[in-house]
Amino acid sequence: MRTLVHLSDLHFGRVDHGLLAPLRTLIERIDPDVLVVSGDLTQRAKPEQFEEARAYLDTLPGPQIIVPGNHDISLYNVFRRFVKPLERYKRYITDDLDPVYIDDEIAVVGVNTARSFTIKDGKVSRDQLEVVRQQLAKVPAEVTRIVVAHHPFDLPDHFEERDLVNRAPRAMQAFSECGVDILMGGHMHASHAGSTAARYQLSEYAALVVQAGTATSTRGRGEVNSFNVLRVDSQMVEIDRYGWDVVHGHFELVDTDKFLRTGNVWTPHNDGLMAAGL
Ligand SMILES: [Fe+2]
Ligand SMILES: [Fe+2]
Repeated sequence: MRTLVHLSDLHFGRVDHGLLAPLRTLIERIDPDVLVVSGDLTQRAKPEQFEEARAYLDTLPGPQIIVPGNHDISLYNVFRRFVKPLERYKRYITDDLDPVYIDDEIAVVGVNTARSFTIKDGKVSRDQLEVVRQQLAKVPAEVTRIVVAHHPFDLPDHFEERDLVNRAPRAMQAFSECGVDILMGGHMHASHAGSTAARYQLSEYAALVVQAGTATSTRGRGEVNSFNVLRVDSQMVEIDRYGWDVVHGHFELVDTDKFLRTGNVWTPHNDGLMAAGL
């Protein structure tokens, strides 16, 4: 079994500083095999915000798989936005825009979905899908395959279709062909774990989509600050969601979702119980 801590939307520049130390302490206690950060490390892609993000990441355990979000591209500076969109991200956070972690149980592949030509939308290109395919082609069949991107590939029904990453259906087709098990994302500042089966009718394939809320930003959009812990086995994944308890000043376990694999289809474990009225 592997344990992943999943942070997202840190938004340095609009951070609730009181959360940083308790978050670090809890992550240290969880002692993950991999720490995932699914984008929006800063609020406005300013050097001091990246510096602060970098300093905080340096205090967290590794290995770390980090991808940029739309807020990590300068919004107002046209030169920075269009000519050098991720220069600061690359300088302060990582110059690897296709980060990969592979061991004998999990393969974690990061994809950059942040783009200059849209304000907040994300996109995944044909070339990026090919890179994912090539990375995962090297991996033995029994290894659980995880893709990390800032923008979501699937969301619950009450979100809009345009909240999804552009070209999501094409990406899902590619992911089905290389057996991607788990899609980890952020951007919505809303937690969610579910199967992609309802939105994408792909033959004998349904991935598990895991969205993290904002771990540290003051822009919670109605949800408390939160993050996820994934326990990944080849046939079973459990996702713990930790939420910030304002009264007691710590992150506490809010709920746990469990998913089981049948072939290449991931399904919520509670389905049978709910159908039986239990
Ligand atoms: Fe965000
Ligand atoms: Fe975002």
